[in-house]
Amino acid sequence: MSDEGPGLSKPVLPGSAPSDYERYLRTEDLLALQKDADEWVHRDELLFQTVHQSSELWLKLAWNEIEEAARLVGSDELAAANRLLRRANDCLKLVTQALDMLEHMSPWEYTFVRKALGHGSGFDSPGFREIRRVTPPLGAAFHAARERAGLSLVEVYTRGREFEQLYQLAEQLIELDERVIVWRVRHFKVVQRVIGAGVVGTQGTPVEVMGRLIHKSFFPELWDLRNELTELNPPE
Ligand code: HEM
Repeated sequence: MSDEGPGLSKPVLPGSAPSDYERYLRTEDLLALQKDADEWVHRDELLFQTVHQSSELWLKLAWNEIEEAARLVGSDELAAANRLLRRANDCLKLVTQALDMLEHMSPWEYTFVRKALGHGSGFDSPGFREIRRVTPPLGAAFHAARERAGLSLVEVYTRGREFEQLYQLAEQLIELDERVIVWRVRHFKVVQRVIGAGVVGTQGTPVEVMGRLIHKSFFPELWDLRNELTELNPPE
């Protein structure tokens, strides 16, 4: 509570919570979204729900920024798009780091947590689904912008200093691709460490099959391009 001036600590925003902090952030609703202790099958449900719910929020921010970035690229506002993509990429870093928390769970005790999940599966993560939806149009917007500038993909790199923002955009795209791949690799190891790689998931997919998604890429052309650049200018 602040004592700066009369009335400043009194809430002015609509709502019934005791402070504007709680009203604006809707902390009462937010903190009611986790099971109470009397509903837990195991107390690690709080850890499990916290990691998943916070990850969904970061993924929501990430896909909103990616979608808006694609729109900005479409109108050649590349610097503004890059600003948002740097942000989205940092969201993916946070979501990847959050996976560390799940390794605090005992694999045996997780078998009890798992019983509370029904058929719940990460395949139905709205945040991840939206990332998969908005990312290909961003790639299409990048290639259209590159063509408007009259450049081949190789030229975006060989003439990167002349076309700084286009080059930075290409690098944000590969960063996004890499962040998703790193998340998948890390997620696969967490899954292997917690439930094992030789079992099936809650919707019946073998964990091994999910592991193969590590080789997926949104922008394979940006990875292939590296080979071309290396071959274009071989060592003497
Ligand atoms: C103990 C922790 C976790 C376990 C044991 C686990 C297990 C699994 C399994 C077995 C699958 C394969 C699909 C299925 O059959 O259900 C899967 C997929 C998935 N999980 Fe998790 N998961 C964990 C944590 C997380 C977290 C924290 C997220 C964050 C959003 C997440 C998001 C996903 C996504 C997006 C997929 C789809 C995979 C892809 O498209 O690459 N999982 N998970």
